[in-house]
Amino acid sequence: MIVLGFALLGYLLGSIPFGLILTRTAGLGDIRKVGSGNIGATNVLRTGHKGLAALTLLLDALKGVLAVLLTHNEGRWIAVVAGLFAVIGHLYPVWLGFKGGKGVAVGLGVLLAEAFPVGLIACAVWLAVAFWKRMSSLAALTAFATAPIIALLFGDWRVAIFAVPIAILVFHKHHANIERLRAGTEPRIKLGS
Ligand code: G3P
Repeated sequence: MIVLGFALLGYLLGSIPFGLILTRTAGLGDIRKVGSGNIGATNVLRTGHKGLAALTLLLDALKGVLAVLLTHNEGRWIAVVAGLFAVIGHLYPVWLGFKGGKGVAVGLGVLLAEAFPVGLIACAVWLAVAFWKRMSSLAALTAFATAPIIALLFGDWRVAIFAVPIAILVFHKHHANIERLRAGTEPRIKLGS
């Protein structure tokens, strides 16, 4: 029962759709009608508002960080469950008819809070691929595919175990991106100036 309560806390935190809230507050309308239709930072970047995209990235990541930090006194198992549910909340928010984002920023936040070196390396992988290939989705897929391996290399099997369903969920939510990547039609992102 206690686990369910912390899972619910993680879910509710993760379900806050910051990309949608911020773009609406800024008067940019519904981000779900822009670009890929995703509520994440990459799509917010497509509005041309880099500051809003950065804030979306930060706040989405913070949801994951908070879900883990608020529960970690209850034990590491509880914290990793809360982290997983923060990702699930972002992906399937009740407020948006269970149609949410792709889980990249929140997932990286969870990894950073659960095992900082693992999260840091996953962020570095994301950044390296993003700057190299200029494709946010490819960067995310690479980072989450390698995260369980990185966790194992650090001997953190608990985080490795929970990084697997997170990676599966992230891959599932990127199915359209994966099709475009295979077809060579995935749009590139503009990083830097
Ligand atoms: O963070 C989501 C990113 O990996 C893909 O976003 O908008 O290009 O589908 P998008």
